[in-house]
Amino acid sequence: MPLSQEFRDELLLRCDIVDVVSKTVNLKKRGSNYWGLCPFHNEKTPSFSVSADKQIFKCFGCGEGGNVISFVMKSENLTYIEAVRSLAEQYGMSMPDDQTEDAKKAALERDELLSINRQAAKFYFESLAGENGKQALEYLLNRGLTKQTIQSFGLGWGGSGWDGLALEMRKRGVDPEKLVRLGLVRRGRNGGYYDTFRQRIIFPIIDTRGRVVAFGGRIIDGDGAKYINSQDTPLFNKSQNLFAANFAKKSKRDYWILAEGYMDVIALHQAGFDCAVASLGTSLTQEQAKLISQHVEKVIISYDSDNAGMIAAKRAIDILKRSELQVRVLHVPDGKDPDEFLKKNGAEAFQKVLKDTMSDTDYILSEIMAQNDVKTDDGKIAFLSRAVPVVAAISNAVEKEIYTKKIAGIAGISVSAVESEIKIAEKKTDRKNNRAIQNKARSPVSVLQSSGRKERYKNPTSAFCEEKLICLFLTDNDLLKKYKDRISSEDFSSQTLARIFDSVLRHSENSDVVNAAMIMEDLSEQDARHFVDIMSDSERSMDAEKEVLTCMEKILFEHSKSAGVDDRLLAEAIQKKRNRTQGG
Ligand code: GTP
Ligand code: MN
Repeated sequence: MPLSQEFRDELLLRCDIVDVVSKTVNLKKRGSNYWGLCPFHNEKTPSFSVSADKQIFKCFGCGEGGNVISFVMKSENLTYIEAVRSLAEQYGMSMPDDQTEDAKKAALERDELLSINRQAAKFYFESLAGENGKQALEYLLNRGLTKQTIQSFGLGWGGSGWDGLALEMRKRGVDPEKLVRLGLVRRGRNGGYYDTFRQRIIFPIIDTRGRVVAFGGRIIDGDGAKYINSQDTPLFNKSQNLFAANFAKKSKRDYWILAEGYMDVIALHQAGFDCAVASLGTSLTQEQAKLISQHVEKVIISYDSDNAGMIAAKRAIDILKRSELQVRVLHVPDGKDPDEFLKKNGAEAFQKVLKDTMSDTDYILSEIMAQNDVKTDDGKIAFLSRAVPVVAAISNAVEKEIYTKKIAGIAGISVSAVESEIKIAEKKTDRKNNRAIQNKARSPVSVLQSSGRKERYKNPTSAFCEEKLICLFLTDNDLLKKYKDRISSEDFSSQTLARIFDSVLRHSENSDVVNAAMIMEDLSEQDARHFVDIMSDSERSMDAEKEVLTCMEKILFEHSKSAGVDDRLLAEAIQKKRNRTQGG
């Protein structure tokens, strides 16, 4: 047990999950919960709920759930101890100084893995400069990179053989399994190890703290994927990092340029645009948008000008705007991607297009225009039917008016006609949002259960009451105090619920207040998931005390039935327990 229960309980009492979540998610109160757009998956209508009473969150869309500690861990990509430390600092508690052995070991291991990555980066870099890196170096120089650029990005060569890195690391006494964990080598069928990034140009991925966390590799001839990246490792989550963020972070510009590829970013930096970054071989994620918004308020999308690039740009606009970034889209008029454009036209030309970016709305409208011939009546109607929802979704009133006029002008229709269409569209989305939320809140337990919950109860009647009792006790601690001695976890039919109930009892011994967030701390990941599902389904009770009594009675009855005693004994047992339940 890394931290004492007292410390954890105290921390969970001091921090407020609504407060913490609000820092990154825009929450609105509806009913007894707060709702917002889930930061863990991409959605347009809010299905992410936070309960102030229970101190837990739950997303009905992706199923993610937990307490404030798990929220911070997940949203900031921190370890358990790091999340606790960050919360403790924010809420003015000092961490118990005695770092546990486990935590110390984990920190040491992380350092060791980082050191291995650093050594690998150096090995690749040196091999690019060496005899067998000649062809690779030539390739890079041919593509217009200077030696200085190669050096500052620490580009490398994965070696011309199969296992150069594996052999070198063995010489240094590094455990090959650690290299496997880092994705640097793979285990062959014959038991040997071979290099993942063999015969590839290496792009080290460095996080904003300057640590080499992963690698990308580009093929220069032969078969295989053009690029490969490190898999997710204890040091690296590809959805949370951006290539070159370590440099962009230091840029003096007040915006970042978001490009698609490694080579685009490097070419941009070489041309003086030191704020360029790229996502790592996947489409942009919400976490990456958040990383940008931690450094700047504006972002310029500079993707390939082909069809795939346009689709990706549209997707990226949504994601970036959800992190409240101002988005502009750059259209490269000549050449497929920024790298090619720079090569053909130079930095000054790029600076010009950079001044001439489109707003996100203009970009989307121009795309709709490109697909519909607004000179014909059919084309006008089709254009408006897609353009109206775009304008209806704009929240800034001034902007909305400007674009209303603009699309009216494009379609050659009166502004008032467009305005009334926009009003209708707004009402529709309002209704849809409300309905989505209500449906979720009203889903019968069975519906929610079928999707998320793993455990199948042996005795659903009893288990249902066990769930309910746990919820009742946690929402009303007075009832917990009053009745906790009249029932024990041994009376429970479900092992999982029994473990949860034990934790409730344990906390009530030490703390005046017991909430769901505290219980989560005691549970395994699977139990915790189940627990969050139960808690988020529970509703406020009209007569909680009566329900507590009913639940206890049912649990005890079901328990005595299952104990396999004969009828007479059973009747006696029930009577005895009834007395216990009803008596003072
Ligand atoms: P160059 O061809 O060297 O100019 O590459 P680029 O940087 O312009 O990349 P491209 O536009 O082909 O692709 C954009 C980005 O997508 C790359 O930088 C990679 O991160 C990623 N990517 C491209 N091809 C692959 C692939 O085959 N596999 C994976 N995992 N990622 C790829
Ligand atoms: Mn390219």
